[in-house]
Amino acid sequence: MGKILVTGGCGYIGSHTIVDLLENRYDVISIDDNSRSTSYLLDGIEKITGKKVKNYKVDLKDYNDTRAVFQENEDINGIIHFAAYKAVGESVEQPLMYYENNMFSLINLLKCVQEFEIPHFVFSSSCTVYGNPDSIPVTEESPIKKAESPYGATKQMGEEVVQNTVKVSSAKAILLRYFNPVGAHPSGHIGELPLGRPANLVPAITQTAIGKLPQMQVFGSDYDTRDGSNIRDYIHVSDIAHAHTLAIRYLEEGRNKTNCDIFNLGTGNGVTVLEAIKAFEEVSGQKLNYQVGPRRPGDVVAIYANNNLACTALGWEIKYDLKEMMRTAWAWELKVKEDEKIIKSQQFQLN
Ligand code: WQD
Repeated sequence: MGKILVTGGCGYIGSHTIVDLLENRYDVISIDDNSRSTSYLLDGIEKITGKKVKNYKVDLKDYNDTRAVFQENEDINGIIHFAAYKAVGESVEQPLMYYENNMFSLINLLKCVQEFEIPHFVFSSSCTVYGNPDSIPVTEESPIKKAESPYGATKQMGEEVVQNTVKVSSAKAILLRYFNPVGAHPSGHIGELPLGRPANLVPAITQTAIGKLPQMQVFGSDYDTRDGSNIRDYIHVSDIAHAHTLAIRYLEEGRNKTNCDIFNLGTGNGVTVLEAIKAFEEVSGQKLNYQVGPRRPGDVVAIYANNNLACTALGWEIKYDLKEMMRTAWAWELKVKEDEKIIKSQQFQLN
């Protein structure tokens, strides 16, 4: 099997994807500048797979340093590009940091795709490109709406940059639009390590349950949904990870319909915030300390995926249900508490 370059390999979805690639006999290297990650998850990958993955601590905004990795690895057969900033709220406060980081990194990588004639490129996109959809579930043909945040804008622009670049390259690309990745690898050796106060729902739930946060806020229960809280399509990170391996294989086998196919990665089930909290309470045996507060600006009322295309074309099968997502997320939170000193010392060097 070819060598796959995973950017952001020390991060949440990147580390889970590396595990899946290794388990499917790919050779993998990572580029991660560790600006928002540490080597902790690489150690977890080694515990799961027995393999040590080389990470190039390179800032993708530096073209020469990025290019040097390709000069040193002439056998790269595919790239999966995760490395990007992804905090919606932070992107509103610091738009230029988001445009610079997310776009310059992507452009430098694509320059290398062209120069070194890398055949396959998988881009980490997001359901955020659909904005507030007119009808749900959304398909890959659903209209792209004006981005609700600079983060979302970088995903929309990123898709366009990839699409237009592969039109004039020999490379073939795939855009994967994730819904809400949650949970952790069943081994408990890798998971999400949010820096600072978590913006996303599931880490906010588990950090409240373990006592890191005093109380959790439910951002609004007066929406036009079955229980008044927002609807999302939560999908286990290991299911997301496997879809990346299937996407690379789909390109390697030449099954792509266009030079830039698009797939929704969601379960196809809409779950409300209050239902997610209830599922957590059932699997953890913990009563969650939360209160309903005001709506969060920019929140989409309801969105979930039509995932038929990914299931049929990629042969993707969802393995984890909502309770398993919550069980693995909780097990990971307990593990992070055990390793708190190690993680803090590494993150200390980060900050
Ligand atoms: C989910 C729901 C909140 C926290 C964003 C990006 C998406 C992806 C995932 C990167 C919403 C509610 C949350 C809390 C709450 N980003 N919530 N209390 O906003 O759907 O998606 O993150 O990969 O691209 O758009 O995810 O987890 O922040 O929120 O009530 O403390 O949980 O209002 O309804 P979101 P989220």
